[in-house]
Amino acid sequence: MAGVSTPKLAAAVSDAGGLGSIGVGATDAAGAHAMIAEVRERTGRPFNVNIFVHAPPTANQTREAEWIDWLRPLFLECGSEPPASLREIYKSFLDDTDMLAMLLETAPPVVSFHFGLPPEEVLSALRARNILLLATVTSLDEARAAEAAGIDVLVAQGIEAGGHRGVFDTAHHDDALGTMALTRLLVLKSGLPVVAAGGIMDGAGIAAALDLGAVAAQLGTAFIACPESAADNAYRAALKGQGAYHTTMTPLISGRPARSLANRFTALAPQVGNRRPPDYPIAYDAGKALHAAARAAGEHGFGAQWAGQGAPLARELPAGELVQTLYAELQRCMERQ
Ligand SMILES: Cc1cc2nc3c(=O)[nH]c(=O)nc-3n(C[C@H](O)[C@H](O)[C@H](O)COP(=O)(O)O)c2cc1C
Repeated sequence: MAGVSTPKLAAAVSDAGGLGSIGVGATDAAGAHAMIAEVRERTGRPFNVNIFVHAPPTANQTREAEWIDWLRPLFLECGSEPPASLREIYKSFLDDTDMLAMLLETAPPVVSFHFGLPPEEVLSALRARNILLLATVTSLDEARAAEAAGIDVLVAQGIEAGGHRGVFDTAHHDDALGTMALTRLLVLKSGLPVVAAGGIMDGAGIAAALDLGAVAAQLGTAFIACPESAADNAYRAALKGQGAYHTTMTPLISGRPARSLANRFTALAPQVGNRRPPDYPIAYDAGKALHAAARAAGEHGFGAQWAGQGAPLARELPAGELVQTLYAELQRCMERQ
């Protein structure tokens, strides 16, 4: 959960018996190195480092200028001017040799990929450092590509999931499979262990995932309200509000489809017409600038408030206590069988 997970959150989850994860997709190799070091200071348990492997963006000044113009009235409403131009605010792992060198040097126990797959020689180099490799997939085709590339474990991300949808190619048709159908499909048709992700908020959801044949469940939204997360107060408040009942998948905030709490940003969807946001993460530069301008004016509805369909079920517990609660709920479900 880039921007929301913290070393403190990941370490608390791992200490309680889960596999804590830090998202480093929005930082550089030095930032990721510092986060890994902090996790290791806080726990001796295994943890995961999550990496973004998106197709590097194609800059298009005309499209970017049109996008800025479209958002201009909202900046003006906040008493601010939009940025003159947009930047690629962070690199894809495909272009980031420093990040690869850092991972090879620090060798975290687990690395997971989102939005695509690195080349096979990169996967071999990581595997040679005894790193377990996970990849988010949203379809059987992506699962087959991951398996062919040498990934060890699939993360089956259903359409219910909060945050960015892990589709490899956003230009390709998306069947938008739910967690239940996708998990079962991959369990039966792929040769790899499957972790179910999307809409799982409690022990009953984890039990259902295990019943489908998943080896584990990956929960994101359930951990946003933990005190150890980096979510700001407005995000935490929004998670408890009506927007949690109406989460929306939108590419408007970052340039890639992502599920967010319903807010002022997601409400722009009907007005976008046939405009296309700039490529991810260039559009995100505009999204973040609008959020910053709005926040300075006391308006918090333009944040990237990622959350899945289970958002109303989020609990405000310290992460370790939440993991223990999930485990106790799972035990009760299993005892009933
Ligand atoms: C706030 C937030 C941030 C996320 N950031 C990432 C990320 O950086 N990398 C990633 O692979 N998945 C990310 N995800 C998606 C999760 O890995 C996972 O697929 C999802 O949380 C599962 O669905 P759930 O949110 O309903 O539990 C994020 C999800 C949320 C809610």
